[in-house]
Amino acid sequence: MRVLVGGGSGFVGRELTRLLTNKGHEVTVISRQPGPGKITWGELESSGLPACEGAVNLAGENLMNPFRWWNESYKKDLFSSRVACYKPSLTAQYTEDIVVRPGVVLGRDGGAMKQMLLPFWLGLGGTLGSGNQPFPWIHVSDLVGIIAHALEPPADTPSPSPQVFNGVAPALNTNYEFTKELGRVMRRPTIFPVPGFVVNTLWR
Ligand SMILES: NC(=O)c1ccc[n+]([C@@H]2O[C@H](COP(=O)([O-])OP(=O)(O)OC[C@H]3O[C@@H](n4cnc5c(N)ncnc54)[C@H](OP(=O)(O)O)[C@@H]3O)[C@@H](O)[C@H]2O)c1
Repeated sequence: MRVLVGGGSGFVGRELTRLLTNKGHEVTVISRQPGPGKITWGELESSGLPACEGAVNLAGENLMNPFRWWNESYKKDLFSSRVACYKPSLTAQYTEDIVVRPGVVLGRDGGAMKQMLLPFWLGLGGTLGSGNQPFPWIHVSDLVGIIAHALEPPADTPSPSPQVFNGVAPALNTNYEFTKELGRVMRRPTIFPVPGFVVNTLWR
């Protein structure tokens, strides 16, 4: 199967590309930058969708992009960022078949963990505000497993479209529990909470 992956150069996209390639599928990444094995969004717009049996959209703004101000345009980009999969379809209409709503995606090579490791390693890790807020999370390999499963040819019984999957681990953890566990695993203290008013100002 040939699969197009928008944003396939990112943290989740790289892991998904690895998994799909290992399963014997062919992956073409859609990116803002040209390169081998890639097509650009501009090429997609001018030449149309190349022949493919599935498409996944992972292109989107990073929640903790240090190079962007927390303003309306950034919030809008974040809000429109989500993971959508388009199953193989003979009619090739490419409406959103499946939407996956991931929690915080954890993995060594990117995402939130990559940004947290240095402050935690320096002993500067701490809860966000009270730490009571839920911290839904998923490991990147589980998330790409869900996406790969979603791309499998549809069963005979049609399902309502779009199907929405919550890509989260079954455990219900708080930010406090996650912070303490990360500190424990890294053998670092987590005694400096980010004050609530700072969190509210940053993520308002
Ligand atoms: N990581 C998480 O914890 C998490 C949690 C929930 C939802 N998500 C969403 O899941 C998707 C994949 O996450 P990820 O961690 O793999 O993200 P990522 O590593 O930042 O990669 C996303 C890719 O999207 C493209 N991109 C970035 N900003 C863009 C913009 N403003 N307009 C168009 N394309 C843009 C980039 O590809 P090019 O530079 O090649 O164009 C980038 O490689 C994103 O939509 C993200 O918002 C992530």
